[in-house]
Amino acid sequence: MKNFELFICPKCGKNLYAKALSLYCDSGHCYDIARAGYVNLVLGSKRTPSGDGDAAIAARRKVMAAGYYDRLYAFFEELTPEGAFLDVGTADGSLPGRLSEKFPDTSFYGTDLSKYAIEKAAKTYKNVCFAVANNAKLPFADASFDTVSAVFTTVFPSEFARVLKPGGKFVRVTPGKDHLIEIRRALYDEVRENAYDDSLPEGFERLCSAELKDSFRVGRELMPELIRMTPYGVKSDRERLKAVSEGECEVSLDFRADTYIKEG
Ligand SMILES: C[S@@+](CC[C@H](N)C(=O)[O-])C[C@H]1O[C@@H](n2cnc3c(N)ncnc32)[C@H](O)[C@@H]1O
Ligand SMILES: [Zn+2]
Repeated sequence: MKNFELFICPKCGKNLYAKALSLYCDSGHCYDIARAGYVNLVLGSKRTPSGDGDAAIAARRKVMAAGYYDRLYAFFEELTPEGAFLDVGTADGSLPGRLSEKFPDTSFYGTDLSKYAIEKAAKTYKNVCFAVANNAKLPFADASFDTVSAVFTTVFPSEFARVLKPGGKFVRVTPGKDHLIEIRRALYDEVRENAYDDSLPEGFERLCSAELKDSFRVGRELMPELIRMTPYGVKSDRERLKAVSEGECEVSLDFRADTYIKEG
């Protein structure tokens, strides 16, 4: 189900209403709904595209299509999302997109700072409501969502708590210690453990933590795309990076999913 009713005006905070091809608030602010079916609710100079660019998003798409996130999708399906679900930093929108096919009675939303990403997401997943928006200042009314997910993206717990209903869930996914370990070993002499922030986000109680492990065959054609999705492309020795990019291997996937409940 697609609707724009949970959005608020980023200028004055009043509710937005869809009329023809725009969203309006009672103060007279207006935002165009792009032809692809999304809105850009980032204001002023910050409207210039930021976040991941076109090449990174295209790479992400190919890797996802090859099954990279299948274990993660299964985890979210097991949550049986109901009501309203927001995926922040959604990139190509494949998580809410896939879930919307399985749970047609749930309202799915996806936001990202990257206009490229949201444009592609909106063209592909017509049942999801997408907006260009910053995780730090989400254009949604207080207590709008039953679930907020943040997968490999920046988190602002107090802002996520604001848009969640009391008792709503915040699901944060970060890399576990073995995530892509084979690639990191090939690139670095000393492999540092992925930093994990175990602190409880303010305003939340911990519900559960899950380790989601899988293995993933990366053929030669996919390896450069996988590397492009990671930070390794800019943080590695050129020669070693070239060797890895031209190779193929079976990699470990290790996702850590922490689920919190909003207090109150
Ligand atoms: C590593 S990607 C992960 C994307 C997606 N969640 C996934 O797992 O496939 C991080 C995404 O977060 C977005 N991002 C980073 N900081 C953001 C912010 N402050 N607000 C909104 N999006 C942000 C980037 O544009 C990028 O699309
Ligand atoms: Zn307004």
